[in-house]
Amino acid sequence: MLNVTNLKKAFKLPDGTSLPILHIPEFHLDAAEQAVLVGQSGGGKTTFLHCIAGITAPDSGKVEIDSIETTRLSEAGRDRVRAAKLGYVFQTFNLLSGFTALENVRLGMTFASGRHDLKRATDLLNRVGLGERLHHKPGALSVGQQQRVAVARALANRPKLLLTDEPTANIDPANQQTIIDLIRECCQAEGIALLMVTHSSEVAGQFDRVESLSDFNQVLETASAEA
Ligand SMILES: Nc1ncnc2c1ncn2[C@@H]1O[C@H](COP(=O)(O)OP(=O)(O)OP(=O)(O)O)[C@@H](O)[C@H]1O
Ligand SMILES: [Mg+2]
Repeated sequence: MLNVTNLKKAFKLPDGTSLPILHIPEFHLDAAEQAVLVGQSGGGKTTFLHCIAGITAPDSGKVEIDSIETTRLSEAGRDRVRAAKLGYVFQTFNLLSGFTALENVRLGMTFASGRHDLKRATDLLNRVGLGERLHHKPGALSVGQQQRVAVARALANRPKLLLTDEPTANIDPANQQTIIDLIRECCQAEGIALLMVTHSSEVAGQFDRVESLSDFNQVLETASAEA
């Protein structure tokens, strides 16, 4: 369902040098498979998820999602595939501040399919424990509550692949397990493949497949002058 081949990404620094972050010869995820991605801060986990999602274009290499080679598409094409096939819980949430919790979840559906499934949006918000906060805007929600809206929004459209970047980093331990269970149960019930970044060994320990980025990222982390 997800195939990454020979993916490379470097960032250009202001002094003109190039800072390589990713060189991933191969990474695969089967349909409905669940894996956790761990690794040191600054190692490139978010950059890797952004490359998979087509938010960032890699310098070279191939990303294939549900048999579509997204690295061959234009930015608009990648946006369409992302809307139709991907759910993404951003490390920084990226909720729309002018819209309520319920509207944020329903807007995610509109971008993807043009349909508003009010019942599913409400059900998901109830399941993340925000049934009493449907009409609050992000500014009137706690950080952990905002993160829970982001989880509901990412699941709303029944994606084929869910990418989550530390989805419980700002949530207290009791609610953390509820959110992890919700994400995993929803993915299992609906056949959604899941790649979850986490710094929590407690969360990682619950997964059969735990990938450490440094084990398959072959980048040599030294800035070099552009040839
Ligand atoms: N736009 C950019 N320009 C230059 N360097 C960048 C840019 N974005 C990210 N980096 C560098 O790329 C590296 C990887 O960043 P990334 O956000 O992917 O790490 P991460 O593994 O997600 O870390 P964390 O666990 O702290 O979230 C970092 O060292 C960062 O400084
Ligand atoms: Mg990160």
